[in-house]
Parts: sequence; C-alpha cells; structure tokens
Amino acid sequence: MKKTVKDIDVKGKKVFVRCDFNVPVDENGNITDDRRIAGAAPTIEYLIEQGAKVILASHMGRPKGKPDMKYSLKVVADRLSEIISKKVTFVSEPEVVGEKTKAAAAALADGEVLLIENVRFREEETKNMPEFSAELAELAEIFVNDAFGTAHRAHCSTAGIAEHMPAVSGFLMEKEIRFFGNLMEAPERPFTAVLGGAKAGDKIPLIKNLLDKVDRIIIGGGMAFTFLKSMGNEIGSSLLEEDKIALTAELLAEAKEKGVELLLPVDVVCASEFKNDSPSEICSADAIPAGKMGLDIGPKTCQIYRNAILNSSSVVWNGPMGVFEMDNFAAGTKAVAQALNDCSGVTVVGGGDSAAAVRKFDLEANISHISTGGGASLEFLEGKTLPGVDCLLDK
Ligand code: 3PG
Repeated sequence: MKKTVKDIDVKGKKVFVRCDFNVPVDENGNITDDRRIAGAAPTIEYLIEQGAKVILASHMGRPKGKPDMKYSLKVVADRLSEIISKKVTFVSEPEVVGEKTKAAAAALADGEVLLIENVRFREEETKNMPEFSAELAELAEIFVNDAFGTAHRAHCSTAGIAEHMPAVSGFLMEKEIRFFGNLMEAPERPFTAVLGGAKAGDKIPLIKNLLDKVDRIIIGGGMAFTFLKSMGNEIGSSLLEEDKIALTAELLAEAKEKGVELLLPVDVVCASEFKNDSPSEICSADAIPAGKMGLDIGPKTCQIYRNAILNSSSVVWNGPMGVFEMDNFAAGTKAVAQALNDCSGVTVVGGGDSAAAVRKFDLEANISHISTGGGASLEFLEGKTLPGVDCLLDK
C-alpha cells in the first residue's frame, strides 16, 4: 500500500501534483474529452481545502522536447478552473521552470492553484535527467503523483522528482492501484480477462502474466486470427502475425496445462475490404474464405462471450473485439461492453480503446472502474513495476 495525500500534513505546504492532463484536443483547440481533468479534481480540491499551495504539472502530447504551443496546457488551465470553480493561475515559459514560474509558485497563498507549462517542452523530462527533476523539485516540498496514465513512464515529473521530497499518491492514483491491485492479488472468482486489439504480439506478455491469475481468457479483435491460424484454421486475408504463430500455439498449450479456459471466436464478421461499406457476411471461424478478412466477432461468439462474462465475479477488459470505429463492425465490441455493464461482479475496463468504446456506446453506468490509463493499465496487468507508483512512500 502506498501513502496518499491523507497520510501527510499538507497545510501551508507547497505541493507539486503530477496529473495526467494528456487530453485530446481538436483542430480548433477544444478539449474533446475532459475526463482525465475531472479525474484529478478530487485530489486538487482536497489539497485546496487543506490549505496547501497547489502546483500542478502534466505533459500533453509528444512535443519532442521543445516548446510547441500546439501542446500548451493553457486550454487545460481554463477547463480545470471551470471544473473546480476556482482560479487556476497558468504560467507558460519555454523553459517550463523559468523565473516567472518560480515567482508564481513562491507567491502562492494557501489554497491557491498554479499550473505550469507542459513538462515535455523540456527534453530532459522524458530522459528523467536529474537536472530537470531538481528544478521541478525546487518549486515544492511534497510530491503527489495522481498521473496513473503516465505511471509507466520513468520521467522527471513522474519519478525523478520523488528523490527530492516525500512522495505520496493522489486519490485517482490510489483508486486505480486499488482496482488493478485487487484484481492481480485477490480477485473474486471466477475471474475473466477479455482481451482484444489488433496485434497478438502486443498482448503476449499480458496473456503470459494473466495465465497465472485468471480462470478464463476471452480473445477477440485482430489478435484472434493468429491464434486461430496456430490451430490450423483457414483465416483468409485476416490480420496475421506469422512470426507469432508458434508463440500463440505455446500460449494455448500453457492455458490448457494451467486449467485456464481460453475462448476464441467461433464465428466472425468478414468482408473483402477494410472499409465500413464493404459488404459483410458471417463466416465460421475455422473456415474464413480466401480473400475475406475478419473484422469483428460474429453473433454466436457474442452470445458465448456474454454468457462467460455474466458468469464471472471479476472481469478485466483490454482491447476491442473488432473494428468498432466502423459502425458495421462494432457489434462485437458493443456486446462485450454491454455484458460488462450487465455483469454483477467487479468489472474493470483498461483505458485507451476499450474505455473509448464503453463511452461510445454509453455503457459506463454499471461498470465498476474505467481506467484513465491505457499503457499504464496494460503494464500493470503485465505484472510490470510502474516507476510512477514504485517511487511513492509505502504505508
Ligand atoms: C497516455 O495517454 O497513455 C499517457 O498520457 C502517456 O502518454 P505517452 O504515451 O505519450 O507517454
């Protein structure tokens, strides 16, 4: 267990809070999904109430280590101020921690909030170089990491700064660690992992780790075809990673050996082209015709997967079942989202595409936890140590 903001006296202290304000912004500079900002609000509001001097930091996008105003956090400051109904001072300097920023931090009164510019305007940030960590550290006395979405990065503002001062988690970070930690350590059983996405290769470390934790693995998405091929099935022109066929066969054997039920599609929605309006048909997953590619799981598979999910006491979902961005190939992903929403057990959605799908179909209401971290939740489930969590004080 990691210490949280509640385990440390913050009154009158300068508190540096690393948030993940890496939110999508459209071509007009408007934020199109502010959930990561709203997710950090409870920590910020708590610190304000406690009379801390709050200094917020985040990255946005990948500005390649130099200032690029397309990625300025000004837009985040404005939105955050609306969400917390409180003035958020924003200072933008190319050097991020320049004279103006230092002066603004030093001038903060208890309960006031400052947001500094995108930490990735400095090339040292992503290299976790000690000089920039020290500059950031000079601004504050306590480090709070609430950026679960960036916890898999060992950067100056997520890990390096923790070497300089007491480091604790914020409430969002605590919640994310609690949900994923419970799943990995003491899940309610049966425990099912639903895995999808394009590439089997990307999910091999995840499956390997989950084989020791779960009772059942459900596989969909483009990755399913490499598994189907390794079983000797005809997969037409579906996505195939030739170099992963042997590995997927090994995983199937390992699942059997460990008594983990592994479900693969029995039918798929096929088309000739990777296009929404390409005419589609339902094919048996063991005989996809030549020239046809599977772009979604089929109706029988949806029903089997739904029953398996409803018959679980814990479910974690990472990766879509088909090309859900195209309406004609979205039914499988929607069926899984619906099943998670209908399941009475603990249901956790990894961030990224699966979280986007749940929102697209407006099926969030009954899901226990939708993570704000895509890459971070994946690495947690792979059993990796997250540097942004590891650097925090233990209880
Ligand atoms: C994310 O969106 O996954 C996080 O904010 C991390 O961003 P990164 O992949 O650019 O490090």
